[in-house]
Amino acid sequence: MIKRIKRTREFELSVQIKDDQFIRPPHDRQRSWLLNRSIAELSGDLYALDQLAQRFVPGTETLHNTDRTQAELSDQEIMEDWQVPLMQAMADIVTSVHGDVLEIGFGRGVSSSMIQQGGVRSHTIIECNDSIVQRFDYWRQDFEGRDIRLVHGLWQDTLDNLGLFDGVFFHTYPLNEEELLSQIGESVTFADHFFPHAAAHLHEGGVFTYLSNEIDSLSRTHQRLLFRHFQRIETQLVKDLAIPDDVHDAWWSDSMVVVKAVK
Ligand SMILES: C[S@@+](CC[C@H](N)C(=O)[O-])C[C@H]1O[C@@H](n2cnc3c(N)ncnc32)[C@H](O)[C@@H]1O
Repeated sequence: MIKRIKRTREFELSVQIKDDQFIRPPHDRQRSWLLNRSIAELSGDLYALDQLAQRFVPGTETLHNTDRTQAELSDQEIMEDWQVPLMQAMADIVTSVHGDVLEIGFGRGVSSSMIQQGGVRSHTIIECNDSIVQRFDYWRQDFEGRDIRLVHGLWQDTLDNLGLFDGVFFHTYPLNEEELLSQIGESVTFADHFFPHAAAHLHEGGVFTYLSNEIDSLSRTHQRLLFRHFQRIETQLVKDLAIPDDVHDAWWSDSMVVVKAVK
């Protein structure tokens, strides 16, 4: 059995490896190096979280236990305004090559307008909610003559037939309690269930962006999930988000990392 303890004024970390074959490189010193590195990483993370926690707003308890697939929602229930700068950063990524863009989730159409302003060859939007499709029909009138295609349905039912794109913009939310449990649960980011689908629908060199749910940096676990499907990742920190004290979303920080993952 191998054991490591790190004690600081604020916390104590204790790791006990019970399986002798677990983390077993050729030399013991290599094993020690790997373990020490992981403890240093975790303790660095705890100190960073201590700083970040001081900037959190309290927020409002919201239980998303109603089915939102066809719910009629207000603007703020669809997407709160503090997310708008994130939409711009994501739209800039997905329009950088001015190619064929796939957007999952129309919502209020804020990011769709930004994608149109960024300039794209074609813009395909998948949206499942009938009342939000009505919003799309109204929004569409401002973009006469543009190649904009709406696919009405769940991405899970419609994506397979859509071919390849230069950019994929993913911004949905869990539609019901089952999705909430399966897609958020223990995951580091809500979007990871979509990573393989994004990669499957991108040309080589195409870009994928999504709401990362990362406050100030991309965790190792998150990066490893991305590197299963993408060649390269770029990160950008969007700061000074106008996060209200009574935010309803499950997000309490005034910054978020925006990711560009390249296939
Ligand atoms: C947060 S909103 C998108 C906000 C949008 N980016 C904006 O700027 O207004 C999420 C949207 O994704 C849609 N959506 C959620 N899950 C979906 C799914 N599985 N398939 C298709 N659309 C989905 C919702 O109906 C909603 O319109």
